[in-house]
Amino acid sequence: MKVLVIGGGAREHALCRSLSLDSAVSALYCAPGNAGIAEVAELRPVDALDGGAVAALATELEADLVVVGPEAPLVAGVADAVRAAGIPVFGPSAEAARLEGSKAFAKDVMAAAGVPTARSYVCTTPEEVDEALDAFGAPYVVKDDGLAAGKGVVVTEDLAAARAHALGCDRVVIEEYLDGPEVSLFAITDGVTVVPLQPAQDFKRALDGDEGPNTGGMGAYSPLPWADPKLVDEVMELVLQPTVDELRRRGTPFSGLLYAGLAITSRGTRVIEFNARFGDPETQVVLARLRTPLAGVLLGAAKGTLDAVPPLVWREDAAVTVVIASHNYPETPRTGDPIEGLAEVAAEDGPDAYVLHAGTRHEGDAVVSAGGRVLSVTATGSDLAQAREKAYKAVARIRLDGSQHRTDIAAKAAEGR
Ligand code: AMP
Ligand code: GLY
Repeated sequence: MKVLVIGGGAREHALCRSLSLDSAVSALYCAPGNAGIAEVAELRPVDALDGGAVAALATELEADLVVVGPEAPLVAGVADAVRAAGIPVFGPSAEAARLEGSKAFAKDVMAAAGVPTARSYVCTTPEEVDEALDAFGAPYVVKDDGLAAGKGVVVTEDLAAARAHALGCDRVVIEEYLDGPEVSLFAITDGVTVVPLQPAQDFKRALDGDEGPNTGGMGAYSPLPWADPKLVDEVMELVLQPTVDELRRRGTPFSGLLYAGLAITSRGTRVIEFNARFGDPETQVVLARLRTPLAGVLLGAAKGTLDAVPPLVWREDAAVTVVIASHNYPETPRTGDPIEGLAEVAAEDGPDAYVLHAGTRHEGDAVVSAGGRVLSVTATGSDLAQAREKAYKAVARIRLDGSQHRTDIAAKAAEGR
């Protein structure tokens, strides 16, 4: 099987790493990729938002499967263009990707499917905004309706800040505050059959102790020893299957990866958001634990034959990933700094610990930073404590001027808290 992966972050590096270890994959391409992905896949340049260009590249490469990583191409209809060229694609249509692309659409689907989520109002005028903020009270949760690359959501005690964010958006969803720990649960689906993966937890804030600004995610771990063992079954029944069924009923079936961002509140499990693609950095830890070869599962989803794919097999191991971000991330990340220590990790810490590249590129022989999140250092171990220790040992070998990382990824869970 020839596979083309679209994207160039650590999520795509994790996908490519798993696909490169799968004996069913005879050729692996990634467009545009990054310096780390280049070690496991052949890189091709492409404008990932241009469906025609992606379809043409897939045709030229005679790809048997295209896997679209990030949300922006999906919302732009790249999967539709590839499907129209007759090539199986892992990733939803633009219509179905609205589940991530529009928070108001997601709320509408959840209401129709009876999926538990925060109560909310969709507001387009200052009067509606004030009414909604007043109705819910603090802490205020204000979400830009459209895609905003992780910057669309403001959660604050400060009414003026909540109001200012709301008035800066064309259309906002204002909703009830959900307390309790967050869980990311992914499911692979072909629009009918739904196969859940293992739950993970992401650390969204920039600084230790969940302080500082929201980011794309500073680390993740899986499994969640503190979670109810019935969580996956419960979310399948209450959230994932009804959502997939509702989109099929609407004539816009969702195939690809359905990501449920959940809050485990005192009143039960609630959906915080849906995404239409693998999460980053949760994918790094979820795939580290998946024993089943990945390509056949993704192809089953792409072709509508997921019901024939055998049950997934998981490792007993725990996995932890720690993101190394550039100087000034998330505000104005500095790029172009040389990264050292990558070869040391490969020589000293492998194969249980490895570095997945997020924002990197080659500059001559050197690897330099090329984005806000630069590396996702991932390790597996017999439990979270061991996986953590191995991940941080590898992190300590990396040298990147001005870089930052959290030191408390999976710390509480590893201590049984
Ligand atoms: P989202 O882009 O919807 O994932 O929101 C980003 C982050 O904001 C989430 O991971 C939560 O930490 C937080 N958040 C979103 N919605 C709520 C809510 N209703 N209550 C509390 N926190 C929320
Ligand atoms: N880790 C959060 C996301 O992928 O949206």
